[in-house]
This record gives sequence, structure tokens and C-alpha cells, in this order.
Amino acid sequence: MQQRKLGPFTVSAIGLGCMNVSMGYGPRIADDEAGRLFNAALDQGYSFLDTASLYGLGHNESLIGKYLKSRRDEYVLASKCGFSRTEDGKTVMDGRPEVLMQTCEDSLRRLDTEVIDLYYLHRIDPKVPVEESVGALARMVQQGKVRTIGLSEICNDSLRRAHAVHPITAVQSEYSLWTRTPEQKILATCAELGIGFVPFSPLARQFLTGKSPDVTQVDENDIRATIARPRFEPENFAKNSQLLIPFGAIAEREGCSMAQLALAWLLAQGDSIVPIPGTRHADRMIENAGAAAIELSPATVEELDALINEDTVAGYRYTDALMKSTDSEKDWPR
Ligand SMILES: NC(=O)c1ccc[n+]([C@@H]2O[C@H](COP(=O)([O-])OP(=O)(O)OC[C@H]3O[C@@H](n4cnc5c(N)ncnc54)[C@H](OP(=O)(O)O)[C@@H]3O)[C@@H](O)[C@H]2O)c1
Repeated sequence: MQQRKLGPFTVSAIGLGCMNVSMGYGPRIADDEAGRLFNAALDQGYSFLDTASLYGLGHNESLIGKYLKSRRDEYVLASKCGFSRTEDGKTVMDGRPEVLMQTCEDSLRRLDTEVIDLYYLHRIDPKVPVEESVGALARMVQQGKVRTIGLSEICNDSLRRAHAVHPITAVQSEYSLWTRTPEQKILATCAELGIGFVPFSPLARQFLTGKSPDVTQVDENDIRATIARPRFEPENFAKNSQLLIPFGAIAEREGCSMAQLALAWLLAQGDSIVPIPGTRHADRMIENAGAAAIELSPATVEELDALINEDTVAGYRYTDALMKSTDSEKDWPR
């Protein structure tokens, strides 16, 4: 697969979002099936894997440790701390340094590795200054437990404050044709400071593949029925689906699938952008990798920009409460 630079690392232009085998969109798959998918992804040329302590409450990291330990030098490993879930399913942000240090120890044990290449603060904890949380991540670097630091769903001001404490290697936030928050400020700051950008949910939570159901057809724990519900509500979904007709026609014209078109558009936004689509299916993992070879003309990029964007899409990406409490959304108060 084509390669990109992400801080000190050279990685495949498309990375693998590993979360999906443990949680998020439909049932978890069997462990050995996930192991086969991960190994097939490395065989396919993926060399950037994304996980988090949150995903399956350690299950996802343990799968990587179990099934990919013997191939550890073949991939850049990214994980995350600072975001967890209580027994009753409530998510909690905890950015206290001592908690992050302990989570790092737990991640290392589950991943069965001596060092994590890129360790993100998953969410800013509003009760803890970002300098303190990033200070803990900087200590992990000094101790050789982590190679580089990242931040997820962070606003511009928080990024600059964090970068003053310790150089940041990558920002990971939601970015796709239908979620444009990063275009407000953070992409420019990343370019200015030499920070890579990793778009999560690059397929718009399956919407841009043309295969997503609406909220009435998914499990109650599916992300599309919980935090990302608004755009999948039947009325919004029906309106948004109209956009997929011309989008599908462009994909056909470009000789690629809709998933590949969505990823190729992201790759065209900058050289330090590395999307991480997630899937539980080997054929889709291979299809997504194919996007790295697609080069869109500036005219096509512009056409896509105008077709699907936050003005043409109905509904916000998150529920109202989450829109208000997510740090990255401070860059675009709505
Ligand atoms: N930092 C954060 O806060 C954060 C938040 C969310 C996600 N992430 C990371 O980002 C990764 C990707 O994000 P995401 O999973 O939320 O969204 P996504 O990659 O935009 O979409 C995932 C959905 O698309 C489907 N899919 C994948 N490839 C497909 C294809 N070629 N054709 C049709 N359907 C396809 C998957 O279903 P199947 O499994 O059935 O294929 C799943 O329903 C995650 O794995 C995780 O590592 C990070």
C-alpha cells in the first residue's frame, strides 16, 4: 500500500480501526476470527493499527497482543487512555495523571509489548488541565513506555497548550465528507506545527458506503443509535440518503466503490492525513485499502466538497449534549 509520514513513522496511507471487532457497530466477532482479520490486514499492507483501552474494556488491546505479538515490528501501534466505561455502561473521562499512568501499564500488559508507538489522550477531562494530562503522557515517553503522544477530539486552543508541554505527533478526530469540524481550525494548526491528522469514522459510520441502515434497524448499543444518532434518525437519514445517489454516480465514474471514494477524498485533503476505517470483514478491509491507490482530480475533490458537507447534511454528528461537551466542537460553536 502507498505510504505516508506520520511524525517519525512511515505508515500505510490507510490504517486499520481495530475497535469494530470488539464493539460499536453490531456484534463483536469471535476472537480467532478477529485474529485472522488482523493478520490478513498486515498481509494486505496495513501498517498502522488503532485501538484504545476503552474498546471492549481491554478486549481489543488483548486481541492485538494475542494475535499480532509475533509480528510486532510490522506495524505502528496506536492506543489511547483517559476514557473508560463503568460497569453499567456509562462512559467516564478521567485525565488525572496517576490514572493515565496506570492505564498505560494496563495497555502495555494487554498489548503484550514493551512500547506503544503512539499513545493518545482519548478525551480531554474538563476537570483536569490538559497540561497535567499531557505531562503524564510525556513522563511515559521519558520512561520508554510510549514513543510519541497524540490527542483525540481536541480543540485548537487545547492542542496548542498541549504541544507547548510536549510535541504532539498526531491528532485523531472525526473527519469525513459529512463531518467538517477539523476544517475550522485544527487542520491548519496541524499543518503549521507538523502534526499528523488521523480521521476517525472516515466512512461516516458506514453511511458513505451506501450500506448503512437507519437507527430503526440497528442494535440499541450501536453507536448510530446512541451518541451518533441524529443523522441516522429516519427523517434525517432519508434526506441524507438522497445525497448518495449523485455520490454513487461519481464513484462509478471514478471506477471505485463509494467507500473508496470517501477515503480518497480524505487522502486528498493533505499528505499527513491517515484515515482509519474500521470493519469486521476481510473483503471490506481489502476494499478500503484500495482507496490508497486512487488519486482524485482537483475538480472531483471540489465536486464532492460541494455535494456532501455540513450544510447539505441533515442533523449533527453527535447528540446535542455531546456536541456541547466535546472539546473539538469549541472550534465551531453551533
Ligand atoms: N478517537 C475516537 O474517539 C474514535 C471514535 C470512533 C472510532 N475511532 C476509531 O476509528 C475507527 C473507525 O471509525 P468507525 O468504526 O467509528 O467508523 P467508520 O470506519 O467510518 O465506519 C465503520 C462502519 O462501516 C462499515 N464498513 C467498513 N468498511 C466498509 C465497506 N468497505 N463497505 C461497507 N461497510 C463498511 C463497518 O461495518 P462492518 O464491520 O460490518 O464492515 C462499520 O459499520 C475505529 O475502528 C476506531 O479505531 C476512534
